Amino acid sequence: MEEDSEEVQAVSQPVHPEPKVKHKEVSAVEDAESQQETEGNNKRHLNVVFIGHVDAGKSTTGGQILFLSGQVDDRTIQKYEKEAKDKSRESWYMAYIMDTNEEERIKGKTVEVGRAHFETETTRFTILDAPGHKSYVPNMISGASQADIGVLVISARKGEFETGFEKGGQTREHVMLAKTLGVTKLLLVVNKMDDHTVNWSKERYDEIESKMTPFLKASGYNVKKDVQFLPISGLMGLNMKTRVDKSLCPWWNGPCLFEALDRIEITPRDPNGPFRMPIIDKFKDMGTVVMGKVESGSVREGDSLLVMPNKAQVKVLAIYCDDNRVRHAGPGENLRIRLSGIEEEDILSGFVLSSVAKPVAAVTEFIAQLQILELLDNAIFTAGYKAVLHIHAVVEECEIVELLHQIDLKTKKPMKKKVLFVKNGAIVVCRIQVNNSICTEKFADFAQLGRFTLRTEGKTVAVGKVTELPTVSSSA
Ligand code: GTP
Ligand code: MG
Repeated sequence: MEEDSEEVQAVSQPVHPEPKVKHKEVSAVEDAESQQETEGNNKRHLNVVFIGHVDAGKSTTGGQILFLSGQVDDRTIQKYEKEAKDKSRESWYMAYIMDTNEEERIKGKTVEVGRAHFETETTRFTILDAPGHKSYVPNMISGASQADIGVLVISARKGEFETGFEKGGQTREHVMLAKTLGVTKLLLVVNKMDDHTVNWSKERYDEIESKMTPFLKASGYNVKKDVQFLPISGLMGLNMKTRVDKSLCPWWNGPCLFEALDRIEITPRDPNGPFRMPIIDKFKDMGTVVMGKVESGSVREGDSLLVMPNKAQVKVLAIYCDDNRVRHAGPGENLRIRLSGIEEEDILSGFVLSSVAKPVAAVTEFIAQLQILELLDNAIFTAGYKAVLHIHAVVEECEIVELLHQIDLKTKKPMKKKVLFVKNGAIVVCRIQVNNSICTEKFADFAQLGRFTLRTEGKTVAVGKVTELPTVSSSA
């Protein structure tokens, strides 16, 4: 396999590996007035990632949310309608709200994760619109790794649900990745209900629900508690801000999308825990500014922190939350933090801004439980296997150095027999090494910093959880 895939390039640059995970801020709101005074706003904040197969309607639905929440005016929509028409992509105008790059608009495909904001009664949401195309899975992983909840968009259009759900479709891979990356709750929106092949058919909706349910269970979701299904039309904006009209869909008695998002409950992160913020991006702006989501603890202006794994002492000069300067911020927030004491070039994405008293572990080796999904043709999973490790914002080459034991799929207990190799579907505990020190935690302590995926040549081959760290960690 000589082909230069994204992952192959990734391993050739160990310091700051490609692919550079890409994000774009969708700033639909232009007047300062409509921006929130964050400190006076006590609403909870949730990150929601839109996932699902290519063309399922993620960007269209995201764009429609911004339109319905008054952030995009009719004039802009008309402009997009014209632009979409000129590109012979008439129906893509709603997606243009989220797909802001020329490349995305021409191809009608999201490449970079789009980031936008809106509010319901109880919650401030950050939408992360992930790309569905398989070439951009690393971007999707980065979006999902910041999310608390997921909206899984499924197209109900004849043939499209089938393609997305079959082998090779992204529906399955996205669900598996979302679960592994800590997206604990899913809204499964059955989209394109307006399409003429669907026409708000209950039968089609039920078919999709009944096919998705066993798969979601197998992926580790408790479907009753963690998943809510609902029908929508992202393009028409139906069953989104208000419930769909009974004359159109007499059988639907459940909530609309905004209600369902509003009601989602998730376990809160610990505001008093040790501070942890994986850095997803950085830039120079009157000092060094780092971006990321607080996974644990709180931060205040003036705090002293460490940038791990390098143990660089830094001071917090300013904190920005959704473009507003704030004095302090708690867990779950997406922040930009201006730091003194470090140069921008000394930070890589995947570094973690961390409490001084209890810094995050920095290791070059750890033990993990892996579930093998799908190995490339003829590959066997054994000591010496190399892959690209994606763990929070880290992308790093790794090697499996030892298979410790296999887990019996039925009893979930370790098997006694010594294991030398495993195949697809196996669960195995192994020792993994990386070349450069990375920040991680045991899954049991900090799920968000202890879950990862292994990818080879552009495909996710395994998902895993860190179970043990070396006793003398370099963070001491
Ligand atoms: P990627 O970013 O490439 O993964 O695609 P996506 O999931 O963001 O899909 P996008 O929003 O770009 O929509 C793809 C196509 O589906 C466009 O032509 C949309 O107009 C169409 N579409 C999306 N939602 C609906 C819907 O509710 N009804 C109908 N009829 N078409 C829709
Ligand atoms: Mg899209």
